[in-house]
Amino acid sequence: MPLCRITLPVGEISSNTTILYDSETRDSVIFDAGGDIPKIAHEIQKEHLNVKHIYYTHGHYDHVDLSGQLQEVCGCEVSIHEADMFLYELSPKMKKSRGFSIPSCPLPKISTHKEGEKVIVGEYEGKIILTPGHSPGSCCFSFDHLLIAGDTLFKNGFGRTDLPGGSMEQIFASLRKLCTILPESTVVVTGHGEETTIGAEKKTLGIF
Ligand SMILES: [Fe+2]
Repeated sequence: MPLCRITLPVGEISSNTTILYDSETRDSVIFDAGGDIPKIAHEIQKEHLNVKHIYYTHGHYDHVDLSGQLQEVCGCEVSIHEADMFLYELSPKMKKSRGFSIPSCPLPKISTHKEGEKVIVGEYEGKIILTPGHSPGSCCFSFDHLLIAGDTLFKNGFGRTDLPGGSMEQIFASLRKLCTILPESTVVVTGHGEETTIGAEKKTLGIF
């Protein structure tokens, strides 16, 4: 059986949460969780998953909201790249500044992950690719012909670079890196909206 995936749009601005799991062992990891924790918890319970780790692709509030609630549900380690820790810590303030209500529980302490680290999902293995630009610590997570891209790469476009720590120069370098190292058939799970492929986005971006 292949590595299984559930992608759910959650929260006020429909950020994608992705759950990957090994269908034999039921071991699982989660990428981003920007709200609707009961909806995520329902999937975990329905599929009888053992969540081993929650990875944040970056620190914007729509990908890390209700972090405390999610940790309570999963009881596992949660991590972010250290260069985005300041955004994680700022996330309630950023959410409030956009007119949304913020959780009353304090933001829990989380750990950090790094470029090149392995991501283990039962019998499957992926790795972390640091892709700064949308934010300084944005990371993508690469598995066999599958990429969890956060807000670095979208269908027909890429992430904005006008938020704190963003850089147009860095995101172009990151996009070139992804398009160079990954096969064109790689399915890209984006941070918002539909999935795409590296091949399709190479054409959109004009990278050959
Ligand atoms: Fe973002």
